[in-house]
Amino acid sequence: MSRSVIVIGGGVIGLSIAYQLQRNDFQVTLLEKGRCGGQASGAAAGMLAPFSEIGEDQDDFFRLCVTSLGLFKEWQSNIKEDSNIDFEFSESGSLHVVFHEADVLALKGRLSWQKKWATSARMLSGEEARELEPALSKEVLAAMYYPEESHVYAPAYVKSLEEACRKVGVKIIEDTGQIYIHTEKNSTYVSAQNGGTWQADEYVCAQGAWGKELEETLGVSLPIFPIRGQICAYQGYAESVNHIVYSSQGYLVPKENGTLINGASEDIAGFQTTVTEKGIERLTNWNHKLFPFLKEIDPFHTWAGLRPATLDGYPLIGKLKEHPHITVALGHYRNGILLSPVTAHIVTSILKNEKTITPIDLFNPERFS
Ligand code: FAD
Ligand code: GLY
Repeated sequence: MSRSVIVIGGGVIGLSIAYQLQRNDFQVTLLEKGRCGGQASGAAAGMLAPFSEIGEDQDDFFRLCVTSLGLFKEWQSNIKEDSNIDFEFSESGSLHVVFHEADVLALKGRLSWQKKWATSARMLSGEEARELEPALSKEVLAAMYYPEESHVYAPAYVKSLEEACRKVGVKIIEDTGQIYIHTEKNSTYVSAQNGGTWQADEYVCAQGAWGKELEETLGVSLPIFPIRGQICAYQGYAESVNHIVYSSQGYLVPKENGTLINGASEDIAGFQTTVTEKGIERLTNWNHKLFPFLKEIDPFHTWAGLRPATLDGYPLIGKLKEHPHITVALGHYRNGILLSPVTAHIVTSILKNEKTITPIDLFNPERFS
């Protein structure tokens, strides 16, 4: 008989895990306190950009990100087939641009170790970068070109994941209000603020930035903090930009629907998802240094989401010793969209007692306890 699983949290991480588990013969119920994709996941820029995002270290976190990028092609095709909802998968490649000689050296240093994974990556002069990206500022001195990096349209990706989950048989219950876990001597169960209790063989916690709320019940230290990302979009300018363009100050991502996304701030505002004038101005004050045409126009849409950050920047993925039926998948910070397939694979392997696709010791959820 197939084992039952309750997944708590309907962001990209909870939905991906629910989908993969159900496809592996588990019987999954997903409980979401609001609407699926209504938090960080629906707010993301959708970049699948491990080489641009991680420039410092070739550790197991970098490997986790690169492994997930490798899984994405087949993963996104399965999700689209099951859901019949498209969400773009643009293999646009990316340009990581710099303006100063000292930064060119840093980029060359990064290429020396990333080359093993980013096999087609190469340094470009400013002129060569402008051949690929004609509207780029003349001030850009050099760029790293990563043809492997790609992006999805995040709001549609989570919609598609949700629909794919339903199609393969996941039972999704939204608007539950806060879900609480109860761990009693011989039994674990969950209850909802808006009424209802559920019990299963296994529980997976994927509450994103709210993961710290579990500390008391589970008796482990889960230092997860919301880092607000304020972000904006320009309508009708995507055709002026061909790639993800990344710089130390932020990034631009052109979408098929014609919008050009410009992200993102990193600020601390508790659990507020409001945007501030200052936060958006920070973006609009530098973006024309990359693309001068942006100086004359205003974003048509601004929004914000809460990244689930951990103290050391690594996610928390794994089973809890004291509660062997509870697995956590939290703290994906800046890369939850990218890491969605690999996290789903890993959690499924854990629940099947199989070897994980990539080492996970670094992500031990009890490392802070
Ligand atoms: P969430 O999407 O926040 O989902 C958690 C869910 O759990 C929520 O729906 C919440 O309502 C629910 N929940 C919480 N507590 C409970 C409870 N007690 N009971 C029931 N439900 C509960 N990542 C990338 O890979 N590429 C990008 O380009 C990128 N860009 C980003 C840009 C911005 C502006 C932001 C803010 C983030 C970006 N990210 C990006 C990061 C990415 O969005 C996150 O890492 C990812 O969405 C985290 O997913 P999650 O499912 O853990 O969290
Ligand atoms: N990964 C992009 C962001 O978090 O803003």
